[in-house]
Amino acid sequence: MKRTGIFYGSSTGTTENVAKQIASHLGIDACDIHDVGSSTVEMIDSYEVLILGTSTWGYGELQDDWGHGIDTFKKANLTGKTIALFGCGDSEAYPDTFCDGMGVLYEALKDSNCKFIGFVSDSDYTYASSVSVIDGNFVGLAIDDVNEADKTDARIEAWVAQIKGSMA
Ligand SMILES: Cc1cc2nc3c(=O)[nH]c(=O)nc-3n(C[C@H](O)[C@H](O)[C@H](O)COP(=O)(O)O)c2cc1C
Repeated sequence: MKRTGIFYGSSTGTTENVAKQIASHLGIDACDIHDVGSSTVEMIDSYEVLILGTSTWGYGELQDDWGHGIDTFKKANLTGKTIALFGCGDSEAYPDTFCDGMGVLYEALKDSNCKFIGFVSDSDYTYASSVSVIDGNFVGLAIDDVNEADKTDARIEAWVAQIKGSMA
């Protein structure tokens, strides 16, 4: 597998837990799972594949630590890298901004000459609107651990199987 790092922003631990589950399925060491609030350009440059996770706060906003994260990722050279996104949200309390943070990340990085993998059909989700959805697909793995925790494991497993081929 290509050298892979996971960077997450998490306020109450949900996205961090999902990051660890993804890492465990992919055999990624703990030293390659990073709180994005402590990320550096050198860390980002050292990976070929980047798995980036954020929850959504406020009303459709990135998790706080991604303020530093976006600045750092914009300074890094992402040309030729492969990026997979995942996001945590709450589709019942925030149906109009469900997992928007993931879409904000995508918008910020999409012109960086990197390749995005891991888009997921929105057919298994109930929500009203999300900037993370393009043509019926989330730009990454959407997790609603607040209302659909029973689906989290299966969603992670299916997504890992989906992206694995592009990480070989
Ligand atoms: C004040 C507040 C605002 C939130 N805003 C959104 C939102 O706009 N969209 C969404 O999908 N989820 C929203 N959420 C839900 C969180 O994203 C969700 O609880 C997530 O699992 C938290 O993950 P974390 O612990 O990794 O930060 C909000 C939650 C709170 C408490």
